[in-house]
Amino acid sequence: MESDQACGPRFVLRRLDPADAEAVSRLEQACFPSGWSAGAYARALADPAFLAWGAFGEQGGLAGYIACQTAAGELEVLNVAVDPACRGRGTASRLLAEVLHEAREKSIEKCCLEVRPSNAPALRLYLSAGFEQAGLRRRYYSDGEDALVMTLELA
Ligand SMILES: CC(C)(COP(=O)(O)OP(=O)(O)OC[C@H]1O[C@@H](n2cnc3c(N)ncnc32)[C@H](O)[C@@H]1OP(=O)(O)O)[C@@H](O)C(=O)NCCC(=O)NCCS
Repeated sequence: MESDQACGPRFVLRRLDPADAEAVSRLEQACFPSGWSAGAYARALADPAFLAWGAFGEQGGLAGYIACQTAAGELEVLNVAVDPACRGRGTASRLLAEVLHEAREKSIEKCCLEVRPSNAPALRLYLSAGFEQAGLRRRYYSDGEDALVMTLELA
């Protein structure tokens, strides 16, 4: 984890590229029970259909990221995570706003995602950005929890 150097008062947001794969994979594995390997991220970040942004601290450490893929005119948010030491400072909200702005510029008309009903910070993040519940996938997660399907019209 890069918390000490990643969590200064200011973050710089930028598009992620394959050179960021190791940092993204490390942060993802610190935030989720399982995560993509650096190799999987390097391949994904080289794919033009994959759209990912990172928030970097003043010393260059990765404090948060959002990873999405585009398909059939839709943007799907695959993952968003912020270093536990950096949460509650608006980082995820800024990352989400950036990715939605880029999607609108690419004329993508809709954004969708799945989220656990028990994940209060993530739900708050998406509701604040204007997402609405569009459905429920029963027992979607490996531990049996349902997933809320949320969508946002971008057009
Ligand atoms: C979800 C997550 C990305 C939010 O990151 P963050 O940078 O702390 O979020 P922000 O500071 O931008 O806050 C986003 C919203 O959530 C709210 N929020 C933040 N932490 C919260 C908490 N612990 N409980 C309830 N709401 C919370 C904020 O108030 C804000 O809402 P607002 O815009 O209405 O004020 C972060 O908690 C995380 O990495 N969690 C683990 C990974 C995860 O679950 N990702 C989501 C997968 S679907």
